[in-house]
Formats: sequence, structure tokens, C-alpha cells
Amino acid sequence: MGPQRLPWFLLPTAALLGLLFLSSLRLPEVHLSACVRGGRPCGWLGGRGETPPSEENGKPPLLAQTSGSRLPLPRHGIPPPARAPRCPGQAFQISRLLAAFRACLTPDGEILLGEYLAGWKELIKLIDTLGAAFGLLARETQTKMEILQGHRAGPHAPHYRTLQAMVAFELRRGLVGLRALPPGRPPSGCRTLLRLHRALKWLELFLGKLSRSGPEEDPSQLCAEAYQAALAPYHSWWVRQAAGLAFLALPSRQELYGLVCAEGEREARAVLLDAVGVIAGVYNVTQRLYAARGLLELP
Ligand SMILES: *[C@@H]1O[C@H](CO)[C@@H](O)[C@H](O)[C@H]1NC(C)=O
Repeated sequence: MGPQRLPWFLLPTAALLGLLFLSSLRLPEVHLSACVRGGRPCGWLGGRGETPPSEENGKPPLLAQTSGSRLPLPRHGIPPPARAPRCPGQAFQISRLLAAFRACLTPDGEILLGEYLAGWKELIKLIDTLGAAFGLLARETQTKMEILQGHRAGPHAPHYRTLQAMVAFELRRGLVGLRALPPGRPPSGCRTLLRLHRALKWLELFLGKLSRSGPEEDPSQLCAEAYQAALAPYHSWWVRQAAGLAFLALPSRQELYGLVCAEGEREARAVLLDAVGVIAGVYNVTQRLYAARGLLELP
């Protein structure tokens, strides 16, 4: 629906999307811009061209491979799972997303990092389907995941089973640069996960708006609003402009509903709301922990 309404926008949009595409091709040397904060190069997630720790090798065991076919038992504090449709032949599977983020929260309120990353693996596929302009974000997210997987496969693996253990371990060892990035070290798990955490809020808000809004509301606008609330405060002017253009090229509402493969719009909205609730639960636990430890503004 978006592109037809914006003919006079097309030329500059196409030009800038082209630029965006070119700049994304040349990652990690050339990011979209220099971040205002600290003058470092950075993109959507505030990266600095990190490479994952070298011990990272091969694929870590992810829950997603086994969890797609059965939903885990309902967990404490989370409503029982609604029907999660399967989407034959599609990369993104909302059922895997739900299963991973549900399994991620233990009855004691701990967050299992393996399942958290499995949920993100599915979210990346979702971001990928939002359009070529989101490719940069998908790749940055992938890099963050690889850093965390590197920690999980590294010499301190036992400390990276849960979010709570990771935070306690990294703080105790002084691995978290509270004011500046510690030079010459792989980025801390705390800092890396914070970037994913902020992007999770964006997706939570966007999917929530998409499931609650009326047909007259433009998904591009909803996505932009979610971005303003969740991510824009951490971005430089240039990244915000590029993001704004990416939103203009978003698929239509019908196409977005189609991604969850529900039967009809009502069910699509219900499935999306379900996902939003599960994501919000995980987000809230992370947010409380980071706030309690003073980690929300890590550089
Ligand atoms: C998450 O926190 C927000 C704000 O505190 C609250 O409104 C929402 O109900 C919480 N959601 C879940 C699922 O815990």
C-alpha cells in the first residue's frame, strides 16, 4: 500500500535507499554514519564493527530446531499458549518464535540465553522479510548474536547460561565498561545484549501497534512510531533518516499479517498479540535486571 501513495517521494527515496544499500554492502568498514554518542561508527544497534570472539566456531545448539513442532508447557505467569499457526515453506515461523521466548523465561524468573538467542534467530528472519532496507539491521543483529554465542561457547560458558548469571559474572570480573568500552577485549555480553534488548522493544511496540490498530492506519507510520519510542533516542541523525526511509518501504498490512500464516485477519491479530505478550514478559525481566544494576546506558 505504501509505495502507491508516495509517487513524489519515489525519486529521493530510491536514491537514498540505493545509498543505504551501498553502505550496507560495505559493512563493517563503512557504517551508515558516525554515531553522535562518542563519535564512533555505528549503525542501528550502536555497533562498532565488532567481530565475534575467535573461539566461536560452528553453530551452537539452539532450541529452535526441536521446539518448532511442540509448544512447551505453560510457564508460571504466562498465559497458556494460543494456537500458533505453521507456515509451510516460509523462513519465519511465528510458532518457533513463541516457543523460544516462552521457554526462555524460567519459573524462577531467570532468562535462558540459549532460548533468548533462538527467539532472536527467528526475529532476524522476520526483520529480513520487512524489506531490503532492513538488511543492515538484520546483519547487525546477527553480529550481536554471534558475540553472545561466542561467550556461550568460550572458556566461561557456564556463566553464560542465564542472563542473571552473565550479568553477575561480568560485573564481578570488571568486564563491563560502565563509562567507556574496555579496549582490546571482545564486547561484553551485557553491552551486546543491551543492543538486542532495545531492538526487542521496537519489535514489541511495532507488533503491538500492528495488532491493535485499525485498517486505516499505515504500518509504516506505526513502525516509525515504535522506532521513535524505542530506538531513535540512541541513534544519530543519519541513522534516524535512513531508518525513516526503510519504514516507507515496509510491506502492506495484509502482507505483514500474512507472515504469521493465520486464517484471516482476526486470528492474525490474536497471534501477534500473543507474541507481543510473550516478548514483553522477557523484555520486562531484562529491563528490571538492567535497571537494578545500572546497566541501561552502557556505552
Ligand atoms: C511489562 O511492563 C509494562 C510496563 O511496566 C507493563 O505495562 C506490562 O503489562 C508488562 N508486561 C508483561 C507481559 O509483563
